[in-house]
Amino acid sequence: MMNCADIDIITASYVPEGGEEINATGFNYQNEDEKVTLSFPSALQKGRGMLKIDFVGELNDKMKGFYRSKYTTPSGETHYAAVSQFEPTDARRAFPCWDEPAIKATFDITLIVPKDRVALSNMNVTERNPYPDDEDMVEVKFAKSPIMSTYLVAFVVGEYDFVETKSSDGILVRVYTPIGKADQGKFALEVAAKTLPFYKEYFNVPYPLPKIDLIAIADFAAGAMENWGLVTYRETALLIDPKNSCSSSKQWVALVVGHELAHQWFGNLVTMEWWTHLWLNEGFASWIEYLCVDHCFPEYDIWTQFVSADYTRALELDALDSSHPIEVTVGHPAEVDEIFDAISYSKGASVIRMLHNYIGDEDFRKGMNLYLTKFQNKNAATEDLWNCLEQASGKPINAVMSSWTKQMGFPLIYVEEKQQGDNRILKISQKKFCASGPFTGSDCPHWMVPISICTSEDVSCDSMKVLLDQPEMTITVKNVKPDQWIKLNPGMVGFCRIQYSPTMLESLLPSIRNLTLPPVDRLGLQNDLFSLARAGIIGTVEVLKVMEAFVNEPNYTVWSDLSCNLGTLSTLMSHTDFHEEMQEFIVDLFLNIGQKLGWDPKHNEGHLDALLRGLVLGKLGKAGHQPTIEEARRRFKDHVEGKQVLSADLRSPVYLTVLKHGDSTTLDTMLKLHNQADLQEEKVRIERLLGAISHPDLIQKVLTFAMSDLLTTSWEGATFSATVFSMNEPPR
Ligand code: BES
Ligand code: ZN
Repeated sequence: MMNCADIDIITASYVPEGGEEINATGFNYQNEDEKVTLSFPSALQKGRGMLKIDFVGELNDKMKGFYRSKYTTPSGETHYAAVSQFEPTDARRAFPCWDEPAIKATFDITLIVPKDRVALSNMNVTERNPYPDDEDMVEVKFAKSPIMSTYLVAFVVGEYDFVETKSSDGILVRVYTPIGKADQGKFALEVAAKTLPFYKEYFNVPYPLPKIDLIAIADFAAGAMENWGLVTYRETALLIDPKNSCSSSKQWVALVVGHELAHQWFGNLVTMEWWTHLWLNEGFASWIEYLCVDHCFPEYDIWTQFVSADYTRALELDALDSSHPIEVTVGHPAEVDEIFDAISYSKGASVIRMLHNYIGDEDFRKGMNLYLTKFQNKNAATEDLWNCLEQASGKPINAVMSSWTKQMGFPLIYVEEKQQGDNRILKISQKKFCASGPFTGSDCPHWMVPISICTSEDVSCDSMKVLLDQPEMTITVKNVKPDQWIKLNPGMVGFCRIQYSPTMLESLLPSIRNLTLPPVDRLGLQNDLFSLARAGIIGTVEVLKVMEAFVNEPNYTVWSDLSCNLGTLSTLMSHTDFHEEMQEFIVDLFLNIGQKLGWDPKHNEGHLDALLRGLVLGKLGKAGHQPTIEEARRRFKDHVEGKQVLSADLRSPVYLTVLKHGDSTTLDTMLKLHNQADLQEEKVRIERLLGAISHPDLIQKVLTFAMSDLLTTSWEGATFSATVFSMNEPPR
């Protein structure tokens, strides 16, 4: 019995080592289970042998298995590439196999392809010979792969250009792009060439293959896929057009490259035992991609962005009754698909970040090296990693981490303080945090939370580390004067929400206003407050009052997170009497920073200034700030008329503003821009913003467009993990 889906077996036979070939007499397909049973005239003898199968599969249109991807050539013709996407359980659509991560094998791949096409696979090409039966075809042979899981096998056949380089550790790196767009691969090439030696050093394990290819695929369901030696990407996750790509796209490409290359070690060299441990692959890669980008682009301040993008997102989703533990038992392929979600990715990454902080970088790396060398070319489970980290650090990793991976949710930590002489006494209690309101059940779970405590004297340094392992604890912080404040969870490392007593919260506010509290903590305080308000634990007005403390805020990521939270509130109020007031509130809050930034980049500005300008102008424009709307319209007109092309970083805010306050002419112009765009990034940018149009008739038109085949095909899978959750959100 083996896995097989949508495949017709023509003949099969078994040749025992040193024995006679035995033909299979029947093929019994169990379609539901994606399996086939081959029958032989008599029981096969135990031992080595070769199974030969002649079969026909389908080059499908499902974006999984071996599928065809459509693209338009520079001369406007429609062409197709053949591409594979096997994770999690679709190698069985390309060839009959034992399609489970723990059943590893070596692969010797040969592709017979049209002469003028590029043919790629995991390994380097060893031979290229004319194909005797057809002079237009060639037979391309690839080197034997290391022992690996089926979901990591890959092949691509199509028309591509490439750029290449050698990394400092001697690996040939190529980025394959659509024909004529090789330049757009340069940024990713640079990132990849820096990333390989970074991981080699971090893990102290070399990259085991002679080459790595990164290729942009026109139709791609996920964002990217870590096939060993042949990483496939959506065009928007790999290609950077110096003129038309915005700063956030560059950052995204860097993160995705960092993520997929991390899998080359963590996932490919050491693979999860079963899909239950998928989170280990994805959570780990989603954490270390930030470490890698921080190394390559320190100016991105990427760790603060982690807190806004992954940590708070995980907290938000994991507070829902419909969440699930990080580790889940899965069986059928449909169940496996379900766990590629924000719990595996973002909560996984967040608990690994907490663990890394608890252990310290040096011991963490020692443990990682132990894990990767002990289990290389094999499989491992969550506990195997904990054991290695426990051995390296001497800390109770198993005990601490099981509370995070085996139960869903996280604690709300309530803290009160009392001054006692020179000391501050903290009373700390934890209860499960629920998005639907305070936890009222009887059997409240609790967690082991490694957390730091800081004071106004010692803001960012986490001098005091504690392990909150009881539902209620009293902690003494020594030498704290009465006028000093205390904050829990500096750096937002512990995976929890904090609720301060009203006086403690009050004492923290000046440090937001005068910026003595670090950005990540200003962001986190504000995010905790919004979530407490959403859960009905504190009043929304209370939170809005705190917003005033952010008038001097200079930090992009803080604004971005705050803007998201206000956006949620604004959506909730959009059809109420408070709508106008809410818009005015937003304009008042963002005006100061908006005026400081202006529309045009100043000298010496960097990545984060560009992101901040886009965010703030978009926010002001959307909320109806008249001068912003007028300037956006003026710039849009010049852009459309070809007088002055909008810089890539200003496109989203300008498109958003003109659409929000636009009419049918604006929508038509935007659809025309969409049609003319050659870069997927530009198409997707427009697709994402079309929903901002206000008039009901125009919304209808946008919906019709969204259902048409004019849309970027790979876009439909874009939010594959988010949708599951938002649809399950409990009613408020
Ligand atoms: N292994 C995944 C790709 C994948 C996702 C395969 C879902 C099958 C189903 C890959 O490593 C990945 O996580 N890609 C992310 C991008 C990443 C930067 C978070 C994706 O596709 O969104
Ligand atoms: Zn991944």
